[in-house]
Amino acid sequence: MSLAWQNPIPKLYTQLTEPELRVRIQSARNALGSQLVILGHHYQQDAVVDFADFTGDSFELSRNAATQKSARYVVFCGVHFMAESADILTDPSVSVILPDLGAGCSMADMANLDQTLDCWDALSATCAGQRVIPITYMNSSAAIKAFVGEHGGAVCTSSNCKAVLQWALAGGTQPKTPGEKIKVLFFPDQHLGRNTAFELGYPLSAMLVWDPRLDLGGHTAEALQQADFLLWKGHCSVHQLFRPEHVDQVRQQYPRMKVIVHPECRWEVVQKADIAGSTAKIVQQIEAAPAGSEWAVGTEVHLVNRLAHKHPEQKIIVLSECQCLCTTMYRIDLPHLCWVLENLVEGKVVNQIRVDEQTRKWSLVALDRMLTIRPPATTTSSTPATAATVD
Ligand code: 13P
Ligand code: SF4
Repeated sequence: MSLAWQNPIPKLYTQLTEPELRVRIQSARNALGSQLVILGHHYQQDAVVDFADFTGDSFELSRNAATQKSARYVVFCGVHFMAESADILTDPSVSVILPDLGAGCSMADMANLDQTLDCWDALSATCAGQRVIPITYMNSSAAIKAFVGEHGGAVCTSSNCKAVLQWALAGGTQPKTPGEKIKVLFFPDQHLGRNTAFELGYPLSAMLVWDPRLDLGGHTAEALQQADFLLWKGHCSVHQLFRPEHVDQVRQQYPRMKVIVHPECRWEVVQKADIAGSTAKIVQQIEAAPAGSEWAVGTEVHLVNRLAHKHPEQKIIVLSECQCLCTTMYRIDLPHLCWVLENLVEGKVVNQIRVDEQTRKWSLVALDRMLTIRPPATTTSSTPATAATVD
């Protein structure tokens, strides 16, 4: 379970004004010097991003964490699964700290290890003679990552999902043999799995949603044998709020506007969009666009507002008026950041995220596979003409 209990921080921190917090955070940073690295996900609030040494998408942040050899403390301004991954990827001498332990991810909580083991047993019994390769989205617990690592699979993020699926479909760690049937079991975001498999040329009929609360995931043994993808029944409650009619409304109201969405959005939305990609891809596309460009962006509101603020020469709006907010990312704020840093200055490590040795061993295998998988030199996928490119 990624959601943990955060005891209230001392009242003093919630009573300080923003300018006071900024001064105290800066002086704690100065005192800690090169011992400290602050990483910030793109969905963090602006005030927190101001103090990040490095900002990025999940893939970039995990790659950055893996390179932190000299820091003693990595303060991770993001959510629990990201901090866990940073702990796995950093040297054991590095303490990874999450400023608010309540910053979880509801999608990551949609797959647990017991359900996963039941699913694996059911697939082993019904799909004998086929190879099932488990792939998990970064947005999952360390326990799921470890399961995947131990069973020949890898982690992926929204920026490399296509390359990781291609790797799996080619056999993963053991090349596919002629006539062998390979199936991907994809955790926990059915939408990222579906969008990417479709982009690789697989029809929707080749994908089944595995519902962990139903016998055989809700399917017959024959249907399971035939499927190429089993997509875990999970989703992001923030991106789920974007609907195809929002794209239709934008197209009607702003005919010149391009629609760019995160691949955690449902398939119908991605199909109607012009571009789909990770938060880093969204940032890159908008940063590279000429003045006068118009964008409707289907992702978390803090990132969209920041882009709109940074690029007044472009028109940038949220795809829907629901103002999609990731409330758990939002828990990381200046009072919590100040509290963890001032404790570090006093030599106290609070809110450390630690993954146990056994889980760490296999989840590191799955994460390392992700970090070394490269997209194939030539792309042979038959991308349907109407589909947005997902990466
Ligand atoms: P990115 O890897 O695209 O930053 O996405 C992380 C995430 O949690 C999106 O909801
Ligand atoms: Fe999880 Fe969705 Fe928040 Fe991303 S936006 S951290 S998937 S709840």
